[in-house]
Amino acid sequence: MPLIPVPAHAHTWAALTRDTSYVFGVETVIGAESGEDTRIVQWYWGPRLPTGALGQVVEHAPGWIVTGFLDPDDATEMLPVDGGRRWGVPSLQAVYEGEVRSVELGFDDAVLGENEVEVVLRDHAYGLRVGLHVRVFDDCDVIERWVSVTNESAVPLRLRRLDSGSWVIPEQAGFRYTGAAGGWGRETRLQSGELPAGETTFGSRTGTTSHKANPWIMLGDATEDAGDVWTVALAWSGSWRLTTQRRPEGDVAVSAGFGHEGLTWPLGPGASLSTPSALGLRTSGGYGAASRAWHDYARKHVLPRPGEERPVLYNSWEATGFDVTEAGQLDLARRAADLGVELFVVDDGWFGARTDDTRGLGDWWPNPERFPYGLRPLFQGVRDLGLLAGLWVEPEMVNPDSDLYRKNPDWVLHYPERRRDTMRNQLVLNYARDDVREWALGWLDQLVREYGLDYLKWDMNRSFSQAGWAEGGDLLWIEHTRGVYAIMDELRGRHPGLRIESCSGGGGRADFGMLRRTDQVWTSDNTDARDRQVIQRGFSYLYPAGAMSCWVTDSPNPITHREVPLRYRFHVAMAGTLGVGGDLTSWSAAELDEARQLIADYKAVRPVIQHGALHRLAGRPGESASAVQYTLGDQVVVLAYNPFALDKQPPRRLRLAGLDPSAVYEGPGGSWYGATLMRHGLTLPTWFHSGADYRSEMVVLRRV
Ligand code: GLA
Repeated sequence: MPLIPVPAHAHTWAALTRDTSYVFGVETVIGAESGEDTRIVQWYWGPRLPTGALGQVVEHAPGWIVTGFLDPDDATEMLPVDGGRRWGVPSLQAVYEGEVRSVELGFDDAVLGENEVEVVLRDHAYGLRVGLHVRVFDDCDVIERWVSVTNESAVPLRLRRLDSGSWVIPEQAGFRYTGAAGGWGRETRLQSGELPAGETTFGSRTGTTSHKANPWIMLGDATEDAGDVWTVALAWSGSWRLTTQRRPEGDVAVSAGFGHEGLTWPLGPGASLSTPSALGLRTSGGYGAASRAWHDYARKHVLPRPGEERPVLYNSWEATGFDVTEAGQLDLARRAADLGVELFVVDDGWFGARTDDTRGLGDWWPNPERFPYGLRPLFQGVRDLGLLAGLWVEPEMVNPDSDLYRKNPDWVLHYPERRRDTMRNQLVLNYARDDVREWALGWLDQLVREYGLDYLKWDMNRSFSQAGWAEGGDLLWIEHTRGVYAIMDELRGRHPGLRIESCSGGGGRADFGMLRRTDQVWTSDNTDARDRQVIQRGFSYLYPAGAMSCWVTDSPNPITHREVPLRYRFHVAMAGTLGVGGDLTSWSAAELDEARQLIADYKAVRPVIQHGALHRLAGRPGESASAVQYTLGDQVVVLAYNPFALDKQPPRRLRLAGLDPSAVYEGPGGSWYGATLMRHGLTLPTWFHSGADYRSEMVVLRRV
């Protein structure tokens, strides 16, 4: 879909997506008492307008009248600056020579391509060039925006905030927000509520996306199935901040960008800085439709290999911890292969002196005592079993007790005169540094090449602290993340068969920036099935099931000590990309048989789950009877759960969604019209009959 100039309005454009229009343009206000003030205004973001109507949403104010304490309309700006008569949330804050802090931009030019425009603005007195970029796609409703700045002057300046831009959600009867928040072991838990008047900020100061919040928000007055939703997401894996501003006028502005308050980015003469992309999406049809639109976008424009079926993996971490040996791993690999697992991942503990978490991190060669002949015999054994080979790495970290740190103590984030606080006994390597990047690419490339690795689990297990970088100061917070991106991109380029999982103490780094160069995310270290249902529900708001790593582990669960039957654990993990992480040496023959069958069941419907359209059908996952549905072509898969023997009021029938009402669907024990399945519903044994706690089932239907 194109990005076009709006007829009869100078410097005004419309981004036309499949179902929406986004109209914006330059407005120069002649102040009553002073000179010109230029702003880029978002005039409209809503259902698609006929071409002739595009200009009708442009309502030039008859002059910007600022009297007394009446606020001007700065919240409708796409890049409100800290400058002039503005008191809202600035997307751009600069400090010029002489501590001048008022940014005054004028419109200079617009570079229009078929699908994108760069609106060029300049603060001539101080030589700051600002590019405001808007891009649309042919096949979805996502609008991508980012900002680039260049210091064209001969003197340095500083940036205090540079968001990817501000989005305006038009006034609604009510404004609820939905987002994902949590902590370690409790990531992406949904939270929602009435958006308060004033400013509300979500974000991370950890240097990563973080467990605490995920960089997106949904706004509107919707339900799962109905209502308009506006949503903004940030494609960034470092610190970030998203601020909503609900105004008395009734609309809401959302400014999102990298970094957090207090950081200052130096911009020397001639230097440029570009923001990550912020993505805006407006949908009808409730939160369900908004999520499906995000998944569609992720598959078409984000994930590196969206069409691939993700293999069923086995990961040894929960089985062995740091107790990694060739014989032990091969034994597990044999048992995993026997179950139908396709990829074997060796986790932490295989390298350097790393026999616990106090030492060896950074020394990326096989532990000479554990693997005297290297990892080749282990991976040969894995391959002989018909399995793909994967390995855990944590490239951004170092234990002070390591050869790497002894040799390069200045490679970590640090200030010369400050403490170097460890977390999990480790420090953060500075990926903004060229020498660190070179080192990392060197050993990673060698490792992948030497063992022909199919898969890396790329972990990142602590937050930044004392984050000093003598050369670039706070640019570190940007350049570290970009360094990680660059190495992942280069590795993938050199090894097209390589797949990467993003892990950060579980789901601490899940976002569209990471998903551009990884295939799946380790959703949480918490593998308790009931907790996972809550975490997975929140994850599903933005990210598709194919990118969500889920393992079946042991019962009682090692973290929560909750006992959950194997079948329920499997059915929860089957809602995403299935893996097994339990200690298979302790599973009974009956459990192994059941697991083998469930893995076969999963493989039979895997494309539908990983690539299908998701409908969150009913209930509160983990807290009551609930179900999720996946539809791809003629195939429909439903996973239904009932964690409690006698749920307060379990619905008897499950109503499906998104089917063709007049088509007939064949399933277990009968066939039904789509209309019957959607309006009357299917009687579910799991819900209807009373029985033990934790009953679950998978229902497969096919359109005939
Ligand atoms: C992190 C990960 C785990 C495991 C350990 C290994 O906690 O989230 O899955 O890999 O590190 O140390």
